[in-house]
Amino acid sequence: MNNPNPKILVTGGAGYIGCHAVSALQKAGYEVLILDNLVYGHRYIAEEVLKAELIVGDTSDRPLLDQIFSTHNIAAVMHFAAYAYVGESVTNPAKYYRNNVVGTLTLLEAMVEANVNQFVFSSTCATYGEPNQVPIPESHPQNPINPYGMSKLMVEHILKDFDTAYNLKSVAFRYFNAAGADPEGKMGEDHNPETHLIPLILATALEQRDHISVFGSDYPTPDGTCIRDYIHVNDLADAHVLGLEYLRKGGETTAFNLGNGNGYSVKEVIETAKKVTQKPINVVISDRRAGDPPVLVGSSDRARNILGWQPQYADLEKILKHAWYWANR
Ligand SMILES: NC(=O)c1ccc[n+]([C@@H]2O[C@H](COP(=O)([O-])OP(=O)(O)OC[C@H]3O[C@@H](n4cnc5c(N)ncnc54)[C@H](O)[C@@H]3O)[C@@H](O)[C@H]2O)c1
Repeated sequence: MNNPNPKILVTGGAGYIGCHAVSALQKAGYEVLILDNLVYGHRYIAEEVLKAELIVGDTSDRPLLDQIFSTHNIAAVMHFAAYAYVGESVTNPAKYYRNNVVGTLTLLEAMVEANVNQFVFSSTCATYGEPNQVPIPESHPQNPINPYGMSKLMVEHILKDFDTAYNLKSVAFRYFNAAGADPEGKMGEDHNPETHLIPLILATALEQRDHISVFGSDYPTPDGTCIRDYIHVNDLADAHVLGLEYLRKGGETTAFNLGNGNGYSVKEVIETAKKVTQKPINVVISDRRAGDPPVLVGSSDRARNILGWQPQYADLEKILKHAWYWANR
């Protein structure tokens, strides 16, 4: 706690959201150590763009974790490492429970052993399941409808129990849809396979894809397409630094939504992308997908009030401009 220049262990720091959080931590004066198995992450982002120390390894490797905690002065852990393909979690649930739950449990046990007791966790709005009110507050019931969401909810429960048993304090951030890219164009979303709407739309604008599929145009929304809450990845990253500082000041274990509170329909995102890219975007309307609620928008008032979080890029056009810049790299 008294180390003026503490080192933060960032798992999944070579991935999309994690690398933006590493950058925000560095800008705030923290030293960072990244642990990433590089299944989805990018070595060049960690080592060349961020110039961060990278350990290639897995959160389920307990001897490696023990070695990390005994050889580095780790003040806190930010845990982004997880698998996050909702569809795959339905067909291969064991992969999700093993990595997202057992991997996290292994990490938490190593932290307890090493007496590291501050933890910032990437949870998700998928822990809520079908909303019965929007915008969704943190007090909304959590009934996930897929193994991915359930794996994150299980960790939220584990975190409460680890606070009770071991005084391990945590902040769980329930993100809505992370989007956009570093405004300086050095980092951005680069998933393979990519399933997220904005990069897929931009890949269509770049003619890397033939069309973008819109799943359902008959929802009870103003233009018939699903409404989602897009939050700029740099705003997410800033919230993580604030979450860490909240814990370092003695904050209690809690959870915060992170969204921008404004919903945008799939059609609105496509229209804004046409404006930003000045390119035609071929759209194919398909059937609804099972388990897609018409509207998913979060209330982030708690993060604003308690953490003093103020999103800087809560505007769809800015999000798309930054993502477009990155897509043209
Ligand atoms: N992208 C979103 O919109 C979104 C929304 C809600 C929650 N989340 C959560 O945020 C976190 C980051 O998401 P992202 O979009 O950056 O994903 P990502 O796949 O880009 O990043 C995850 C990183 O973790 C690494 N990783 C996975 N399992 C690991 C393990 N066992 N050990 C070490 N490294 C491991 C991957 O190689 C990757 O670099 C995830 O926990 C995800 O569930 C993301």
